[in-house]
Amino acid sequence: MSRRDFLTKTLAAPAIAAFASRLSAQGMPGMHDMSHGMSMGAMGMQHRMPMMGQSTDKLAGPTALASGATLRQFPRLANQSKQPGQFRATLTAQPRSVALLANPTGPATEMWLYNEDTVAPLIDVFEGDRIEITFVNHLPQPSTIHWHGLPVPSDQDGNPDAMVEPGGTRVYTFTLPLGSAGTYWYHPHPHRLSSEQVFRGLAGPIIVRAKNDPLATYPERHLFISDLKLLADGVIPPNTMMDWMNGREGQYVLLNGQHQPQIRLNGNERWRIWNACNARYVRLSLNGHAFSQVGTDGGLLTHPANGLKDIVLAPAERVELIVSAPPQPASFLLTAAPYDRKKMTMGHGSPSDDPAIVLAQIKTSNAQPLHLPDRLRNIAPLGKPTATKKIVFSEKMNMLAMGMNHDGFPSGMEFLLNGRSFAMGRIDQESRKDEVELWEIVNHSDMDHPFHIHGAQFQIVEREHKGQITPEPILAWKDTANVRPDETVRLKIVQTLTGKRMYHCHILEHEDLGMMGIVNVV
Ligand code: C2O
Ligand code: CU
Ligand code: CU
Repeated sequence: MSRRDFLTKTLAAPAIAAFASRLSAQGMPGMHDMSHGMSMGAMGMQHRMPMMGQSTDKLAGPTALASGATLRQFPRLANQSKQPGQFRATLTAQPRSVALLANPTGPATEMWLYNEDTVAPLIDVFEGDRIEITFVNHLPQPSTIHWHGLPVPSDQDGNPDAMVEPGGTRVYTFTLPLGSAGTYWYHPHPHRLSSEQVFRGLAGPIIVRAKNDPLATYPERHLFISDLKLLADGVIPPNTMMDWMNGREGQYVLLNGQHQPQIRLNGNERWRIWNACNARYVRLSLNGHAFSQVGTDGGLLTHPANGLKDIVLAPAERVELIVSAPPQPASFLLTAAPYDRKKMTMGHGSPSDDPAIVLAQIKTSNAQPLHLPDRLRNIAPLGKPTATKKIVFSEKMNMLAMGMNHDGFPSGMEFLLNGRSFAMGRIDQESRKDEVELWEIVNHSDMDHPFHIHGAQFQIVEREHKGQITPEPILAWKDTANVRPDETVRLKIVQTLTGKRMYHCHILEHEDLGMMGIVNVV
């Protein structure tokens, strides 16, 4: 039974009372709201549930983090190899105590970081490069490093069946094929622990460059968006039941690890933007200033898309934009306006009433005429598919069984693909190497889920929503595609390497709760 059906058909007063006492037993005082705000009629068709609220009074306040500093450049992971075409480095995942709170005498925060810095280093490499990265795990948990979006061999891709134990080390090696230039990222992919490791700080950007990049002359700016849930005492808390259900959204949205930094936009710039949040969707805009989109997850588009005013990034998606200083020096905001992904919230009213979140303040100078090339590159449309796959997202909620277990995982909620929860030893799909396949991703649940598959970039063909088919307006390489409730996304994909690949919802809490499957490429 779906969440909505569950609420509308079976939610009866005794069930709510039982549920309420279970929540308040977990110290979620917000539950008291329930006893007033709740009338069965009012509950009716709503999937926003005041009674599932949780206390927010221990969260750090809006000014607890310093803001307004100049946006920092990403630290680059240094190449230890002297050989041309080779990139060799080490990433050490480790707990680190950092001063996040603005109050200098306030408590420090324990984050989990790759290497020393509060943001993971940028891996900046070229097509054709041979990559060799030593991963050292100093976390108290097993981990892996997954190279999100890159066509690396499956046994080098940080799959959850190849965990590196605490204290362990392993080397990941792969060669970046020609044509793979684009904007990627790396993050842990251990069994059931990915969401926690990412929200504690483990995720970093990757740029693969082409030798013949038509936009190479534009100065680049990198905006790596993450969010942070922080308590007033500086602690990054574990997931609550609502975090597990909706995917966790921190109260701070950070750029390159900074809270509301300042950006000095100089002339025309190429912006690479990553949504590295566990679950937050961002609808980015620049106070109405238009920009051009030139790239997606897997690199450049064929032509620039000009005159855009906003762009939505689901978790794990990336874009490349060209942003220009307007003729007169100006000052405006980079904001993330609300996107209604149909989650359950404790709020009242509709999510579109929520204020936009300020990501950065922008000051512009030095306007320059913009002459973008009309042709950015060639993307050959994938041919006629000779095999089909169908993946169905669904959720199962059992309000009576809902609660938190002692291991920190919730009970009473299931996030499923094709009716099943992830099982490590099970192969869910089989594909043949080099064969064009049509994947149909169907969302039979009540909220948006971003679909992601490892090993290859895909081309979205069309979207069908309530019987209405919309061909995808632009031909592009993607590895993550949002799927709305009642929507079907059809995409074409070719896996060129054999082995087991994961596909999953990229709301990391849902992935950890089993919204994941394995395709074996033979
Ligand atoms: Cu970015 Cu399987 O993940
Ligand atoms: Cu991935
Ligand atoms: Cu999901």
